[in-house]
Order: sequence, then C-alpha cells, then structure tokens
Amino acid sequence: MDLQNIKLRFGIIGNSHQLNRAIDIAMQVAATDLSVLITGESGTGKETFPKIIHHLSPRKHNNYIAVNCGAIPEGTIDSELFGHEKGAFTGALDHRKGYFEHADKGTIFLDEVAELPLSTQVRLLRILETGEFMKVGSSKVVKTDVRIVAATNVNVLDAISSGKFREDLYYRLNTVPISIPPLRKRNEDIILLFRKFAQDFSEKYRMPPVKLDDEAKAIFYSYKWPGNIRQLKNITEQLSIIEQNRVITGEDIKEYLPIYEGQKLPALYNEVDSKTFASEREILYKILFDMKKDMNDLKKVVQEIKNGDKSTAIFSKNEDFVDSFYSNSDAFEAKMQKKRIDIDAEKNYNIQDTEEFVEESLSIELKEIELIKKALEKHKGKRKAAAVDLGISERTLYRKIKEFNIEQ
Ligand SMILES: Nc1ncnc2c1ncn2[C@@H]1O[C@H](COP(=O)(O)OP(=O)(O)OP(=O)(O)O)[C@@H](O)[C@H]1O
Ligand SMILES: [Mg+2]
Repeated sequence: MDLQNIKLRFGIIGNSHQLNRAIDIAMQVAATDLSVLITGESGTGKETFPKIIHHLSPRKHNNYIAVNCGAIPEGTIDSELFGHEKGAFTGALDHRKGYFEHADKGTIFLDEVAELPLSTQVRLLRILETGEFMKVGSSKVVKTDVRIVAATNVNVLDAISSGKFREDLYYRLNTVPISIPPLRKRNEDIILLFRKFAQDFSEKYRMPPVKLDDEAKAIFYSYKWPGNIRQLKNITEQLSIIEQNRVITGEDIKEYLPIYEGQKLPALYNEVDSKTFASEREILYKILFDMKKDMNDLKKVVQEIKNGDKSTAIFSKNEDFVDSFYSNSDAFEAKMQKKRIDIDAEKNYNIQDTEEFVEESLSIELKEIELIKKALEKHKGKRKAAAVDLGISERTLYRKIKEFNIEQ
C-alpha cells in the first residue's frame, strides 16, 4: 500500500514532509514486532498511527486493543492491564483477563503511557523484556505475545529526570520513535485540513461550507495552534455553526483564537524565526486592542441595563456572563459571550416576536452544550483534555458544566 492509499484509508489529511515521513516510518515498522513510541503535542493526530501499524502488520487478524493509561484509576490499572485472580482484592469476585491477555498475538496501544504509575511501569518492562507477566494476586507466570505501541504528549525526558518515568522502560518502548510534528511546523497542511473539516461540517449541519478570506488565511498561518489539529477542527466546527456569513474574515477569526496562558511571548523567539514572531506579535496586539474595545462596548451596555434599558430581560439571564467577563481572564470565552450578547441584543431591537428570539438564543446554547458533552464523552470525563479540545480554560469548562447542569 502506498502513502496516498494509507492516507485515504485512515482519513489522514496533509502532505507536509514531516507528516509523510512519520507515516512512512509507521509503514516500514509495521511488519516487525518492534515496539514503537509515538510522541507529539496534544491534538497532533497520534491516535491513527498505532492503527496503521496494526493493520499493516501480520497481526492484523488478531486483536487491537487501545488503552488510555491516563483514564484508568491508579488502584485498578494493574488489574485492567494484567488481569486478576479471584479474591485478589476486596471486590475481586471472579478472576478476570487483562488487556495483555486479550491482545495476545495482536497489538496493544498504550496511550498516555507517561501516566502509568511506577509500579505498573515495572510490570510493563518485564513484558517488554521477557513477554511474561503475573496477574494481580497470582504467582503464576503467564506468557503473552503482544506488540506494544505507546504514545505520549508529555516530554518523556523531563518525566525521567523528575523521577516519574523509568529510563529503562523508555529505551525499551522507544525502539522505533515516531514523532508527529505540531501543526505550526506544517503550515502547508493548515488550509488543506480546514477545507476538509469545513466540508465535513457543512454536510453534518447541512449548510454551505465556510471559507477563509486572505486575511483569515494569513492569521491561520501565523497562529501557534497550541491545541494543534484538534483545535483547528473545533474552531472550524464553531465557525460552521455560528457564522452566518460563510466567508470568514480576519476580523471574524480573531474571536475564535484564544491566547493561551502558556503562550508567553519570549518562548516564541525560540520556536519561530523573527519574521513569524513579528507577525504573530502584531496579531496578538490586534486581538488585545480589539478586546479592549469590546470591553468598553460591554461596559456601556451594562450601564444601559442598569439605567433600565429594554434589553434588561436578556441580560438578567446573562448576569454571570457579565460577571465572568470582568473576572475571567479567558479571552476567548469572554469574546464568545460578547458575541452571543451582540446577537441577542440585535435580535431584541429588530424582532418584535420574542418567541423567535428565545428559540434562536437557545439553539446556540444547545450547540454549546452539545459540544461540551461531546468533548467530555470523547475524553471519558477528563475535564482538562476536554477543555483543551474545546479551546477554553478548564475553569470555564467547569463553570459551564455547572451553569448548564451537564451530567457526567
Ligand atoms: N492529519 C489529519 N487529518 C485529519 N484529521 C486529523 C489529522 N490529525 C489529527 N486529526 C484529527 O484531530 C483530532 C485529534 O487527533 P488525535 O486524537 O489523534 O490527537 P492526539 O495526538 O492523540 O492528541 P492527545 O495527545 O491530546 O491525545 C482527531 O479528531 C483526529 O481525527
Ligand atoms: Mg490521543
């Protein structure tokens, strides 16, 4: 199977040299039993690679099991991975097979491997070295023939130096390293990905696809994309749902690109050349000025409400939005709220039929709830990961879960 076919089969968009190289290594290593460690920032697309490796390997007719090591509580992870004997611990009413037994002759994908507790790392090292393990509560050695592919978005060398990850395990897992580049290092893929996502969401929401004007494209190229492709996908979905005008301008786009707390300007010097830095800084300044203007507008509106303006009914519902605007430093969130308030206010002035207004306002809220639920479901209730995915802060997500009464 050649590179293009692999991309088609696994839904991979992009043609940058680094991406092609990563796919190429996955194809080459598939036929062997070598363990592979996939590294890359959050949202870069690591999860497809173990699937490529499994489906192109002689193990393809046997089980492929993906385990999110970060999502399993420390107390049960050994039992989940290696199984347990009846009576091994309180509640172990029967014996249980672990994932390593289920994946025998197949492939196991250990996602977020750096989250494994140290004691589990010891067990894993033994499997890698001898193919042997023991169930929890048993002294019988079990043999397994499993190909291990692991992934992480943390810097493993840092984890080693802080004593959280075993160095010997790292070298065993990292027999073949595959590094997935961040989106900002494969600029040529940004627009290809945007077009694909815009097309997909246009079909999903039955609306014409959104397009970018030249200024919006330029902003996309110079943005840092801390959440990588996941963030680009989410923003494209938000644009597809919210923007009435299907040609997205530079002005529109700025409202969707959050400035992350971690995005400190000096770091940019290390990572991008000074030309990119200058344009990125310019964009940041523009966004800041724009926000300041919004803040003043909002203050004005709040003042009007205090004076008994006719839009009070809407704003009373949004009181904590206004509070949060002042207290919450999450720029993106505030701008989204501002946008909602703008839409609401406009409707109230122009449309007499309040029924219609309520319906429209609710539908935006419902979309928001739907996106939050989707993100939580995807990340198995992990708020941190869900917040990154949604492009909002964890604190804001927490507030929204409470505000919308979202069950988890
Ligand atoms: N090249 C690509 N083409 C199309 N979609 C992609 C591509 N890369 C990633 N995606 C999409 O981006 C989203 C994030 O990818 P994925 O879940 O694999 O990230 P990840 O690297 O595992 O991140 P994390 O470390 O946070 O788990 C997914 O919806 C995935 O389908
Ligand atoms: Mg992942």
